[in-house]
Amino acid sequence: MAEAKTANRPVLRVLSGEAISPPPAWMMRQAGRYLPEYRATRAEAGSFLDLCYNPAFATEVTLQPIRRFGFEASILFSDILVIPHALGQDVRFVEGEGPRLDALEGRAQFDRLREAGDPAIFSHLAPVFEAVERIRGALPDETTLLGFCGAPWTVASYMIGGRGTVDLAPARALAAADPALLDALLDRLVAVQTEYLVRQLLAGADAVQIFESHAGVLPESSDGDALKRFSLGPITRMVQGVRAQVPDAKIIVFAKGSGLEGHARVVPETGASAVGVDWGVDLAALRARVPASTVTQGNLHPETLIEGGRALDAAVDAILAATEGLPHIFNLGHGITPQTPIAHVEQMLARLRGGR
Ligand code: CP3
Repeated sequence: MAEAKTANRPVLRVLSGEAISPPPAWMMRQAGRYLPEYRATRAEAGSFLDLCYNPAFATEVTLQPIRRFGFEASILFSDILVIPHALGQDVRFVEGEGPRLDALEGRAQFDRLREAGDPAIFSHLAPVFEAVERIRGALPDETTLLGFCGAPWTVASYMIGGRGTVDLAPARALAAADPALLDALLDRLVAVQTEYLVRQLLAGADAVQIFESHAGVLPESSDGDALKRFSLGPITRMVQGVRAQVPDAKIIVFAKGSGLEGHARVVPETGASAVGVDWGVDLAALRARVPASTVTQGNLHPETLIEGGRALDAAVDAILAATEGLPHIFNLGHGITPQTPIAHVEQMLARLRGGR
């Protein structure tokens, strides 16, 4: 059964180690504001969270980029911040400003969050699993469905700061002032999100991606290895926890900002099936640094997609050249932005699919 599914789905084949030419493609944040049909459904749904928690609307926006572009993978429409919300933290999305949470300042507020194992967490998330089921039922057979969550450090940084900040000062300050509290928060996120990914896989997701968008900004660690202590360590515990329940689970880890060395450590240290490569890393250098069997994904610069033209063609060609004969999934090096012209996404795919 699992083999039949893999054979039909190019993204799953690459995640199993096969090199496919041209590589299958999807884009991080492929359902989003650059699409008029997304903006229309978003307006109908009301708020961003209403869109995330309504299985019919979430299914619709997940399918929109598949219908329009025929990407080989589809990603569940939701957000990494539904987890703090399910834990009982207030989460809002402010138009034009991004997410706002009630910043978690100390032990008293942490103690009010739901504990791992509280059934209320997963009843809150029930619409997400229903969306996964519906999406899998509606997708073409050859399209891989990806579930996802945020990595513990990235989610914790929003929970502590209450919003996105460039330097993550509030989260780093908490790490210095009360390291045990940060550890307790990371532990809870590991436990809850391990179960969250397992339930997405059981509901029909073919593979999952863990988004560590803030791997480049970490607290100091006394052992000198902050990447392991705060990022790859908690992610490893999630990968192992998921595989304890779903032994063959395919897991992509995107550790943005961790640099060439950090990216090279992702697969060997966490046991992930693939490393998502951000736009700041030289893909050819990374491919030269890791074993040929390593599965990579990425790393087109989202700004090159906005630029289009010859720069875009050259960037697509460079990614193909760097990954020739190697297992790779074509993607951006971070999410697509709202100002991206649809014609440039079409150009990117034409270059990729007709390219060699
Ligand atoms: O990729 C997809 O198409 C699936 C959906 C998805 C969203 N967010 C939808 C979304 C995924 C996988 C995410 C992940 C996510 N969310 C991350 C990790 C990836 C990354 O970009 O680094 C992070 C850090 C978040 C938190 C978040 N959600 C921020 C910072 C913002 C505001 C920025 C923005 O683009 O507005 C969001 C909102 C959000 N999440 C939108 C979408 C489509 C835009 C909201 C809208 O429609 O108004």
